[in-house]
Amino acid sequence: MTRHAWKSVQRAKLAENTVRLENFRLVEAVGKNYHNGPKIVRTVPVEESRHTLLTGETPSSIRSADDFDVVVHLPGALRGKTLNDVTEAIEEWGRAAKPSPKGANDMKSCYKKGYDLVGRTRLATLWHPVGHKHDTPVVCADVRRTGQTYEGAFKLFAELDLVNSFCTTALLAIDPLQYGLLRRVYDWRRETYKSQVAISALDKYNLWEGREIMFNRWSDPHWDHNDPHYSWACIVYFGSFKEARMKFRQLNAEICLRRGDVVFLRGRDVLHEVADWGDGERHFMVYFTHESLWDGAGIESRATPM
Ligand SMILES: [Fe+2]
Repeated sequence: MTRHAWKSVQRAKLAENTVRLENFRLVEAVGKNYHNGPKIVRTVPVEESRHTLLTGETPSSIRSADDFDVVVHLPGALRGKTLNDVTEAIEEWGRAAKPSPKGANDMKSCYKKGYDLVGRTRLATLWHPVGHKHDTPVVCADVRRTGQTYEGAFKLFAELDLVNSFCTTALLAIDPLQYGLLRRVYDWRRETYKSQVAISALDKYNLWEGREIMFNRWSDPHWDHNDPHYSWACIVYFGSFKEARMKFRQLNAEICLRRGDVVFLRGRDVLHEVADWGDGERHFMVYFTHESLWDGAGIESRATPM
């Protein structure tokens, strides 16, 4: 898995598989520090005149005009038995967690009808509940809601080794600086909170403290405003859907997504969305990290051009 991840990223970085943007500059986007107001989202400028379509035939990446990778698409990251096993594991977690499209939720209007598993679940091992940035961070509520969710979460942690090792290795290959910073946050978590020592015994090869699993939901345009600037979110896709399109309005770019694909994006700094995908079920797991935790650890997010 680690060799597959490493090779896939190296192919994405080849000149022929890299789209160079002409106008979008990552450092400028960080300076603008966009927030998710509906008017801002609607009026954010399309910065590129050339349209980019990543078809998923080969690993590929999108690089900003100031020389930072901002999106990396790794098609076919998970295949065959590995993909089936991980899909089964996240669906089993879904049945234990019983997500609902109602209740506290952004994007309430984006859920598909007619499926058993619909909604959002979180598996953050340490985080500040939304609106409580200055409290002591804790394991998130979805994990500790009932005895079944507690056991189900730990079972899932134990079953994600292969997908964790793909995603963590890919992060190292894509961006060693961000990998190193996230590693320092990981070390701080384990030094400071005993729960993290216990969880990491099962949750191997994973540096991100946050994971979110969405069942049958598409996404309106947004920035991941709780994540640190420059940080990478990593998304893995599951289900019976044929193809979905992830769009980046500022970049005038889109990606064809299929089951088993992995996408890395700097979600705090690049507006992104996924429209309704048509037939079939579509689930995804996002690895993320939150800025409030980096603040607690005293670690500042940075980036260097490629
Ligand atoms: Fe996002």
